[in-house]
Amino acid sequence: MRIRTYSLIVAAAALCSCSVEEGTVADVIPAPASVELSEGCYSHKPWSDIVYREDSSLGPEAYRLEVGQEGVVIASSDAAGRFYARQTLAMAAGVSEQKLDRRFWKVGFCKVEDSPRFPYRGMMLDVSRHFFGKDFIFKHLDAMAAVKLNRLHLHLTDSEGWRFPSESYPELNRTGAYRDKEPVFGGWTHCEPGTEGAYGGSFTRKDIKEIVEYADARHITVIPEIEMPGHSAEVLAAYPDLRCDSETRSGDLCPGKEETFSLIFSVLDEVMELFPSEYIHIGGDEVTHKSWATCSDCARRIAEEGLESPKDLQGYLVRRVEEYVRSKGRKVIGWDEILGDGLSSDAAVMSWRGVDPGLEAVAQGRRVIMAPGTFCYFDTAQDFPEKERPTFGNYLPINQVYSFDPAAGASDPSLVMGVQANLWTELVDSGDYAEYLLWPRGFALAEVAWSQPSVKDRDDFRRRATALAREMKDRGYGMFDLESELGERLEATEPQDHLAKGAKVYFAEGVKWTDSYAAGGEGALTDGLCGGWAYKDGKWQGFLCDVCFMIDLEEPKPVSSISLLSMQNRVHGIYLPESLKISLSYDGTSFEPVGVLRPQADTEALGAKFFDFSISGGEPTPVRYIVIDARRGPKGGFLFFDEVIVR
Ligand code: ACM
Ligand code: ZN
Repeated sequence: MRIRTYSLIVAAAALCSCSVEEGTVADVIPAPASVELSEGCYSHKPWSDIVYREDSSLGPEAYRLEVGQEGVVIASSDAAGRFYARQTLAMAAGVSEQKLDRRFWKVGFCKVEDSPRFPYRGMMLDVSRHFFGKDFIFKHLDAMAAVKLNRLHLHLTDSEGWRFPSESYPELNRTGAYRDKEPVFGGWTHCEPGTEGAYGGSFTRKDIKEIVEYADARHITVIPEIEMPGHSAEVLAAYPDLRCDSETRSGDLCPGKEETFSLIFSVLDEVMELFPSEYIHIGGDEVTHKSWATCSDCARRIAEEGLESPKDLQGYLVRRVEEYVRSKGRKVIGWDEILGDGLSSDAAVMSWRGVDPGLEAVAQGRRVIMAPGTFCYFDTAQDFPEKERPTFGNYLPINQVYSFDPAAGASDPSLVMGVQANLWTELVDSGDYAEYLLWPRGFALAEVAWSQPSVKDRDDFRRRATALAREMKDRGYGMFDLESELGERLEATEPQDHLAKGAKVYFAEGVKWTDSYAAGGEGALTDGLCGGWAYKDGKWQGFLCDVCFMIDLEEPKPVSSISLLSMQNRVHGIYLPESLKISLSYDGTSFEPVGVLRPQADTEALGAKFFDFSISGGEPTPVRYIVIDARRGPKGGFLFFDEVIVR
């Protein structure tokens, strides 16, 4: 239940006379489960007390908050509930939680009953691709706590740099932690610290202890990730003996060598000593398996273990590592590739390749954390990508994050532990920019994670998010400006009606879209559905060849314009056509070329670029057949089209 009486707030504001502005719990993110506002406001002074009560009938992290004539009363059954009540009050009052007791503030009378929808409310920070030190993390933990997020997953290791302090394998923190150049895309190699231009670093044990302690004081669990067996080029740079003997420079550890397990177990011992979290993340994604098929150590292991193929070595490694972690009283989380690896029911899956792996995990009776790229990858632009800095993924607006329901479609919603946003940092080279990508989208994540769907309200959320973004910006956080958001491509927001809608498309021989970017297949280019700013929105059709096709309008129609949008996204190998020729025919026998269009494309540009190939003007011409002939440039790659709009 959520009762709002805004008119009373206005009346109450008029009654309060001191200079501090009155706040209201109606402005809080994430929206509480139940809010009752009433007339009047309480003025807090640094010498007045907040009363705390224990109420064992309340669940974990839940709280009741009452603000009335007599002051503030907070009830909870645990310290987390008390902390979240204080966060609600602090956000309403416009002060930070740490300063709540020491400041003058005013909050309208209210009664709040609140509890989280999900126990796991997370953010992942990749500190490998770019290294973010403890001061950034402290600041980030403050922001997370303010919106009741409670899991910080640190992606501590990846090919670009090892950041976990290991005493047993010290070379990991030397060669493994430094690369000779800062940029990630650009042919770097690992090097020793002190090498000219070297970029990198790692946490010290003291840093980790301080981070864990700081997080714990904010009811946040830090979940460490040690990535394996893929994404491990930095381990192989530090300890080349762990390469397969058929080395292909794949970045995969050799699961045939016993030394690989010695390193993993030893490092995990150190990790479990420093991080008290129930779960330890062991990665498991995007293993190439390239070197395993031709390595004699891998071959021996396959024979000894009776495995069917080199790929099965992944399951072998992950099962062995899980067993080790379980023997220490902990549990593992892995990226969703681990789903087929035969792990115990204790292992949790982090669903990143969409929601389907998560739903499959739940169907198998396994716990899952939803972190699908389509809703939760924050290494994406929050707005029209050409206006933003280049990002690895290309577009994820706040509304899309807000629309996510992590338990939708789950056969047993109780197995959905929660939701997590991931910030990969290949192209994120500063704390300020990391925050810019995290917020205010992180507010939407927080409301998805904490609030019941019945209290979510997109327009009201936007009002609250705009105000909170301003406040956090004033506190020094990098922040995307919601007020200047351009939003999704308008044509992509509803089906477009035009002369070619529904017309048959005939592709030239050998021209076929790729399965990964099918966009509905045969009629995709005339189905009235325009692609948006995201290359993976399911409306862009992708081709790994020159693209020549003919559209048959079935009868001559008066045509005055033809337009066709294409996109470039170099990070994903998508390029604008070098040329695009349009020819028209009345009868299907004689075709008249009406234009050869060439975009001014910078093929080195990292970010997304869009180009509208269009011809228009003059008197409408009767046309039945339209032929489009798009040619790739020297870089090859994908060509992307969404819709041929004919008017
Ligand atoms: C991932 O994004 N490779 C987990
Ligand atoms: Zn091997």
